[in-house]
Amino acid sequence: MATFDWSARDRDDLESTAAVVQEWIPHAPDSPLYQGLALRIAQDDVMLRLVSRIDNVPPLNLLFAGVKLLLRPADALAAWYPHLASGAVREPQDAYPAFRDFALAHEEELVRIGCERRTQTNEVGRTAVLLPWLPRTEAGLHAIDIGASAGLNLCLDRFAYRYSGSGRDAHLGSGELVLECENRGGFGLPAAPPRLASRTGIDLDPIDATDAQQSAWLEALVWPEHEDRLARLRKAIAVRRAVPVRMVAGDAATVLADVERALPPGPLAVWHTVALYQADAGARADIDAAVEDAARRRDVTRVGCEPVDGSLHPEIHVGSSFDFGETVAIAHAHGRWIDRP
Ligand SMILES: C[S@@+](CC[C@H](N)C(=O)[O-])C[C@H]1O[C@@H](n2cnc3c(N)ncnc32)[C@H](O)[C@@H]1O
Repeated sequence: MATFDWSARDRDDLESTAAVVQEWIPHAPDSPLYQGLALRIAQDDVMLRLVSRIDNVPPLNLLFAGVKLLLRPADALAAWYPHLASGAVREPQDAYPAFRDFALAHEEELVRIGCERRTQTNEVGRTAVLLPWLPRTEAGLHAIDIGASAGLNLCLDRFAYRYSGSGRDAHLGSGELVLECENRGGFGLPAAPPRLASRTGIDLDPIDATDAQQSAWLEALVWPEHEDRLARLRKAIAVRRAVPVRMVAGDAATVLADVERALPPGPLAVWHTVALYQADAGARADIDAAVEDAARRRDVTRVGCEPVDGSLHPEIHVGSSFDFGETVAIAHAHGRWIDRP
């Protein structure tokens, strides 16, 4: 699995910080604004110094989200952000001076946000890439989402899905929120989303979807050009507010075993999407052990969709361990498509 290396040593050395910024750029292919800004930041020692003060990962996600959180319509930089621009959105290649001015004027606040908050993007589109591998069982399924952020993906049975591609279109589920996913790999699909018996999200720092300020952070994490993602995030938050989800604060490495043991009997699905790249190898091994232990008591399916070293796209692995599980697919980072590995 790809883990993000952002050590104190990297942060002390501007060349290493620039390298971390450069490495981030290919991971944002569908945000021309952020890609362009990152390219300029990588060559700007003053901005690199600001980035190096953010000790959470990935620092650019936190910087960009911090800026988006603080930005107001009256700020010059707002002209590059579709959700705030009053007229036509300006071209990304012209944004850097306004971005730099804004960031430096708010440096202390941005550093505080970057050090206190986490990259907790809650992307409901990822549920569309999990569905093909969730068990098709008559019995209600207990669901545990590791790194659940605000728990939005635990409402996956309340969303509708439209899969296209490979000559076979499929619609499943119902609800106002419709998730589109291109099934490039022609994977078999269930007739309907699973029926969930319980929903538990585990997160180091759960986001309360009922709280306006915490939801604003979720919105800030969505890249500016992705207006469709922002719209579906807002719909998903509304769904989530009406669905009982139990959120457990803690490191999954230590709390997963107890959370599972406290569940009533019945099959269990454990999933995680773009979360465990933030966990070290020891924590991942503890999570594997908890899943293996649970499998002695009940049917357990584990599906992970995580960034992996050497691949631009997250991989979907099925098995009691992510690191040693079977690679069944690759996926778009926000769930726009799934394909054969
Ligand atoms: C990038 S967000 C993704 C959220 C969600 N899974 C999604 O795909 O939309 C990663 C989340 O994983 C959580 N996280 C990372 N390591 C964790 C761990 N060891 N235990 C529990 N949560 C963890 C973070 O706090 C964060 O909310």
